[in-house]
Amino acid sequence: MKLFSGLGDRVVGGPSILAANFAHLAEEVRKAEEGGAELIHFDAMDNHFVPNLTIGPVVAASLVPETALPVDAHLMVENPDILIPAFLDAGVASISVQPEVVMHLHRTLTMIRSGGAEAGVALNPTTPPESVEWALPYLDFILVMSVNPGFGGQSFIPEMADKIRRLREMTDLPIEVDGGINEETAPLVAEAGARVLVAGSAVYKGNPAQEMRKILDAGRRAIGQSSWDTY
Ligand code: DX5
Ligand code: ZN
Repeated sequence: MKLFSGLGDRVVGGPSILAANFAHLAEEVRKAEEGGAELIHFDAMDNHFVPNLTIGPVVAASLVPETALPVDAHLMVENPDILIPAFLDAGVASISVQPEVVMHLHRTLTMIRSGGAEAGVALNPTTPPESVEWALPYLDFILVMSVNPGFGGQSFIPEMADKIRRLREMTDLPIEVDGGINEETAPLVAEAGARVLVAGSAVYKGNPAQEMRKILDAGRRAIGQSSWDTY
């Protein structure tokens, strides 16, 4: 299932399940889908690259058959190469790695693609866009971290809108944005050129279907797209 390559100029989004109730994961995902989510963002953290410890391929393998939506794995881990085969086996649609800790990025991205998933890099707030210039041919998308990875519920770093603009000048690859996205910040990143909005705490703070819908509407309105365009 290709998520990023078939996107065109549409603004889409999905929940970060980090903020969901893990005891009811399939149901939490369904609620966001009712609100128009088109992907499920899956945050793997290893207690080394980031202080937090979350979920891995075993949970991904349980979740994938429970949802029709593509699962987008964001690996905030020091040694992603070790985990990528298991995530591919789990059936995730896309995998992003943090280039700050990947020694041989070409090899890692090629491994993701040859396993049938779309490949991305997730850039920490101070990682320069130019640092991935030579990786562009091996990428299907770029994930701009608009907070420091590791935790949900942090505030959007406003300069990340400028970073999205810089990336837009460098490439036509779809730009996903993750961290502090809500009704107020979705317009800023959509105007800057991001097309994939990930939101955790803003979705699960209330009724996930309604909150997801509000965020998507806000992002689309900002660039003159109607929510009905997608249905
Ligand atoms: C942060 C994760 C995000 C996080 C976003 O390290 O990569 O996906 O869940 O959460 P919010 O939307 O609450 O900032
Ligand atoms: Zn994430």
